[in-house]
Amino acid sequence: MDSFYANLPEGHVLKTFYQEHEIILQTLNEISDLNTEIQKISDLDSSENELNKLNVLATQLTDSEPHHQREEKALFPVMIERGMGGPPTVMTMEHVSIREFKHNLKDISINNNNLSWNEIKTIINNTSTRLCQMLYDHIQKENQMCYPMAFQGISEEHVWEDIKNKCDKIGYCSFTP
Ligand SMILES: [Fe+2]
Ligand SMILES: [Fe+2]
Repeated sequence: MDSFYANLPEGHVLKTFYQEHEIILQTLNEISDLNTEIQKISDLDSSENELNKLNVLATQLTDSEPHHQREEKALFPVMIERGMGGPPTVMTMEHVSIREFKHNLKDISINNNNLSWNEIKTIINNTSTRLCQMLYDHIQKENQMCYPMAFQGISEEHVWEDIKNKCDKIGYCSFTP
């Protein structure tokens, strides 16, 4: 683990965000490998198993919505208040596209809309490649720039407690450690 996060106490808002990122990154790897497998399949009838797996993995990603909500509603408002508005604005905009791609990937795994297998494969390939890239970059920016900036700019223990209470109210992901 990055030493910045290793040094944070267990249960710190930023440590939980980081730990959730690690699990999301794992899911992205699995989606990328699964896409490679799917691209080798020659017809829709032989794809049932892989499409089920894709549905499970895409659902894990849509289940990460409480993570984005905690960022947008608990952490980012305090950053904006304190003049660190740049990264939260960019991150919130990125959440919009990431959300759309996740839902598109989940949809194509269960609803083939009378498309041909080749068309479905192309959509899966484009959506998963773009999503993995976007979400990977997004997580790197939050881990390396946005969260350390928040830590520097918010020095009062009680403000972190307020943020944590807001997070608790919003709730956690099915996969939060
Ligand atoms: Fe985010
Ligand atoms: Fe995040």
